[in-house]
Amino acid sequence: MLNFHLVFLFAALSVAAQQTPFSTASESQWTEFHHPIKSVAVIGAGPAGLQAAAKLVEHNFTVRLFDRSPGPGGNWFYTDETPVREPYPDKPLDETPYVPKNLPATQYYKEGDDGISLEDRWKEHWQPRPVWESLHTNSPAVITELTDVPYSADKPWILSNHDIQRHVRAYASLHNLNANDYQTDSQNAPVTSYSTRVESLRKIQATHTWRLTLRKLERLPESNRIKAHWWTEDVDAVVIATGPYGSPHVPEISGLLEWSKVKDAEQHHSVYHSQSYRRPQRYENKTILIVGASVSASEIARDIAPYARHVLASIRPHENIHPFKLRSLLRFPDVTEFVPEIDHFGALAAHDKGIKDGEIHLLNGTVLHGIDEVILATGFVRSNKFFPSYTDDGQPADLHWTGHYIPDPTLAYTNVRPWTIGKYQSYAFAKVWEGTAHLPTQKQMKADYDIGKYNFRGLFASAPAEALFRQYVAWLNNESLLNGGRFVEPWPLEKREVFVYYSNVEWIKGYVGLQNFTDFEKLPSREWDSDEAAWEAMVYEDLEW
Ligand SMILES: Cc1cc2nc3c(=O)[nH]c(=O)nc-3n(C[C@H](O)[C@H](O)[C@H](O)COP(=O)(O)OP(=O)(O)OC[C@H]3O[C@@H](n4cnc5c(N)ncnc54)[C@H](O)[C@@H]3O)c2cc1C
Ligand SMILES: *[C@@H]1O[C@H](CO)[C@@H](O)[C@H](O)[C@H]1NC(C)=O
Ligand SMILES: *[C@@H]1O[C@H](CO)[C@@H](O)[C@H](O)[C@H]1NC(C)=O
Ligand SMILES: *[C@@H]1O[C@H](CO)[C@@H](O)[C@H](O)[C@H]1NC(C)=O
Ligand SMILES: *[C@@H]1O[C@H](CO)[C@@H](O)[C@H](O)[C@H]1NC(C)=O
Ligand SMILES: *[C@@H]1O[C@H](CO)[C@@H](O)[C@H](O)[C@H]1NC(C)=O
Repeated sequence: MLNFHLVFLFAALSVAAQQTPFSTASESQWTEFHHPIKSVAVIGAGPAGLQAAAKLVEHNFTVRLFDRSPGPGGNWFYTDETPVREPYPDKPLDETPYVPKNLPATQYYKEGDDGISLEDRWKEHWQPRPVWESLHTNSPAVITELTDVPYSADKPWILSNHDIQRHVRAYASLHNLNANDYQTDSQNAPVTSYSTRVESLRKIQATHTWRLTLRKLERLPESNRIKAHWWTEDVDAVVIATGPYGSPHVPEISGLLEWSKVKDAEQHHSVYHSQSYRRPQRYENKTILIVGASVSASEIARDIAPYARHVLASIRPHENIHPFKLRSLLRFPDVTEFVPEIDHFGALAAHDKGIKDGEIHLLNGTVLHGIDEVILATGFVRSNKFFPSYTDDGQPADLHWTGHYIPDPTLAYTNVRPWTIGKYQSYAFAKVWEGTAHLPTQKQMKADYDIGKYNFRGLFASAPAEALFRQYVAWLNNESLLNGGRFVEPWPLEKREVFVYYSNVEWIKGYVGLQNFTDFEKLPSREWDSDEAAWEAMVYEDLEW
């Protein structure tokens, strides 16, 4: 890929350019695609994927939106169902799913086939969300809102997960992307396919298209079976909107493997990840140890404290805490007893009598007894198998700030804080692929690439996020001026003002002001960013929540 001239000539001679998914015209100052982009697959129907799909439909692409869950909402598709139990030890992230040899293929499963219940087969497929019944956001409504379906003015600025679920569904309905919405345009295949998991994604070099291998599960209640159907679809471009929290993270602590096998008299596991937490009532009179110090840990502690006999939280020493994290620490209920990190779990006499008699050895030498249950609020890891490369801290690598994958910009990735930035990002996907906005040459994009500069993590109310908004607005409008298309308006400044009020009341008083808002990311607590050790020491979690 060193010589773009040569690569372009190859393409011009209509020899299938073996390695290049796109070409950079020799006379061009921008990236050109091998062929016009007509069809796009969007993977994930959370706030990010729905926005991308709606925008691409509006721009007349043939769009396919896939989500493994039975309806739209992403992380906010709340149900009382709990996910299949997380594996102990942590599951390898590169595990490939079973796909029959010849596709399309259909298979039927009965209760207990391969030793798996229908219930677990269903849940393994769509993965019920790591969200509990009483969850409220730690981000105010103004920055947790999708365009076109504003919350009513009397909504509190802290939203319940049910509010958000309805909000995201309203957005999906407005854009005809809800479950069972059919498309009025008979020319096109239906846009949405729910209960459909993308099993693999690969580039077909000969045609410069992407091939998705898909699996849809259907429950057949009349015959008490599950039908699985596999097939493939080819598209010109792909948006990966699979969200930031793919897999629960289980820490490596000596003895945990043995403890993970233990059930109590009610056949309930005594040690489990926070992803399965739903309601507090069953914690009455129990002594609970929560491992971790971030959002899930503090919020679950608050939820169970009125019921539990005793709540303990095992946390690591922490310095230079990001205000976001500090909020979590401060929100642990007063009754919480903070204890040091766990060194190891002691041996157990039996696996069917709970863990109450077991010993939990802390790093400082103290031994805890009499714990009824351990909740591992130890975060999530990105487990997306589709994306070619990741940076060391789990962020997608080689992304242009617009979200396009620099080595092949027919692939794009949504920002992990998609609520407000998604509007601009989705428009950028549509404009780039329809040709009304141009990406710089690949060489230029590589030269510009700087994960720190563009902070793709895009913390929703921070200087990089605001800089990103401004960069999008300026760039999109300049491109429209040059190449056609609509103009976008900037993110409303009054929302920023509301955020400052919110921050004063709910977050850390005086930390964010109208004047110093944009310096937010330069504050001392940002040291965790440059000092991985401090970050690691903070909590047990890999990522927030
Ligand atoms: C406990 C918890 C609390 C949170 N609280 C907040 C908060 O207060 N404020 C906030 O802004 N954010 C919060 N978040 C973050 C949350 O992830 C974002 O709000 C938002 O949901 C991200 O949107 P998304 O569309 O990028 O991803 P998601 O909402 O995660 O959606 C991704 C979708 O991709 C689908 N998918 C994944 N893999 C596949 C596949 N192979 N095939 C098909 N579909 C697939 C999933 O089923 C899912 O529906 C919280 C997260 C958690 C876990
Ligand atoms: C999409 O197609 C319709 C009908 O042809 C047209 O009116 C509209 O302008 C197109 N939209 C865009 C963004 O190109
Ligand atoms: C919890 O403890 C209280 C006080 O000892 C007792 O009245 C109550 O019955 C207990 N509840 C359960 C579910 O054990
Ligand atoms: C170790 O931690 C426990 C729990 O916080 C505390 O009670 C105990 O005093 C500590 N021991 C030492 C030696 O610091
Ligand atoms: C607009 O785009 C052109 C072409 O890429 C570029 O030269 C110019 O600097 C841009 N202007 C602004 C204001 O970004
Ligand atoms: C930000 O500004 C507010 C006043 O608007 C001030 O009280 C606060 O100390 C400032 N925060 C920092 C971290 O500089």
